[in-house]
Amino acid sequence: MKTTLRPVRDGFTSPFGVLVATLGSAVGLGNIWKFPSLTGTNGGASFLLVYLAATMLVGLPVMIAETMLGRTARADAVTTFEKLAPRGQGWWKIAGWMGFAGSLLILAFYSEVAGWVYAYIFKSLAGEIATTDPAVARAAFGGMVSSPVQALFWQWVVMAVTGSIIMLGVARGIEAVTRRLMPLLFGLLLVLCVRSLTLPGAMQGLVFLFRPDFSKITPVVALTALGLAFFKLSLGMGVMLTYGSYFRDTQNIPATATRVMMADLAVSLLAGIAIFPAVFSFGFEPAAGPSLVFMIVPAVFAAMPGGRVFMTIFFVLTAVASVGAMLSLLEMPVALLSERYGLGRSKAAAWAIAAVLLMGAPAALSQSLTAHLTLFGLNPFDLFDFLSSNVLLPLGGIMICLFVGWVFGLPQLELRLSNEGRLANAGLVRVVFLLVRYVAPLLIAIVLLNGLNLF
Ligand code: PFF
Repeated sequence: MKTTLRPVRDGFTSPFGVLVATLGSAVGLGNIWKFPSLTGTNGGASFLLVYLAATMLVGLPVMIAETMLGRTARADAVTTFEKLAPRGQGWWKIAGWMGFAGSLLILAFYSEVAGWVYAYIFKSLAGEIATTDPAVARAAFGGMVSSPVQALFWQWVVMAVTGSIIMLGVARGIEAVTRRLMPLLFGLLLVLCVRSLTLPGAMQGLVFLFRPDFSKITPVVALTALGLAFFKLSLGMGVMLTYGSYFRDTQNIPATATRVMMADLAVSLLAGIAIFPAVFSFGFEPAAGPSLVFMIVPAVFAAMPGGRVFMTIFFVLTAVASVGAMLSLLEMPVALLSERYGLGRSKAAAWAIAAVLLMGAPAALSQSLTAHLTLFGLNPFDLFDFLSSNVLLPLGGIMICLFVGWVFGLPQLELRLSNEGRLANAGLVRVVFLLVRYVAPLLIAIVLLNGLNLF
């Protein structure tokens, strides 16, 4: 008798593999570039407190809901909504397509920032940015981002690295790489924390990071924190959904999501501990914003003993962090193109990378050739960031919440999150359900309206 074997779907191979790959997606430039700069400009510890609340009340339940959808359907984001939506409600799959567009948009500017980080590894090795004068550091950064050749070159390098790993597959590419990089990331981060904490006057940085001044909590601070919580945990883009589709049947989803959330938080805090005590110790400004990492941090390192080595470690660490996040962002469209349209994995990856490079070029050239191409006063780089973070991400998040909270329903959610009754977590699932059904969509809607200045 002839039997036809269905090809086994690629996926993560162990509970640890699931954990590191998912954590790899969450950890990224968000921890080292966005988190410290937003904490610096929004008042330090009080921002941290609101961010913690946003992560636990909204981020965690949405992450649980999103990965659950993927594992239930075992498909790409568009097909997942198609499979799980009730008859006649096929339009839910728009959420999947928004995630597709959003992932490509984020990649278009994220790959550029990652490119600057790669370039800075070489610049710090060569001693080119070893200056304590912020004006010189600013000029060095400006020189790099305004050179079309350099900007494009580094973006292409980043996409070549990401693309080669993606082509190896989910288990042999994503899981194998993140399994090695995540421990390395924690190791390097700890080295930097020890260096920063042993500097004279380090205490001031810790006070800034951990002693809240409640008068600094404003609605804008709260909204910024909620937006960051979403970006941090890679939510609303179908990215976590796609990763969830590779989770094993026995994986405890709420426990995994909680671990990822806590480990991701730990990375952000360690990044803060590595940066702020040093910033205060050398009398720099903590509220420097996005330029903190590229202009202030090099100056801080240059001012300390052994600075060049630690500066290089810092940029290697940041590059390492960006890899896992980029892999997850690229996997989302690759899974969609290869499974839904039957393209081979390499072909799907080639198409997705081509799209990223095409859209990424205007973003990369935003400080030079395309600086004048503005829409709503935003250059392409800022426009892509705005559209993905302020529009597509919250919209996708709301759709996921409404779908799970109002269409999928509690009995199904209990069944799926208890692994068909094998886990005794009914109370916990009920809390997740209430948060996803009422609290999260409401809060995200406020973020969305505010982001669009309708508020
Ligand atoms: N979580 C990543 C970071 O914090 O750097 C960025 C990210 C990855 C955002 C994947 C969104 C996403 F879908």
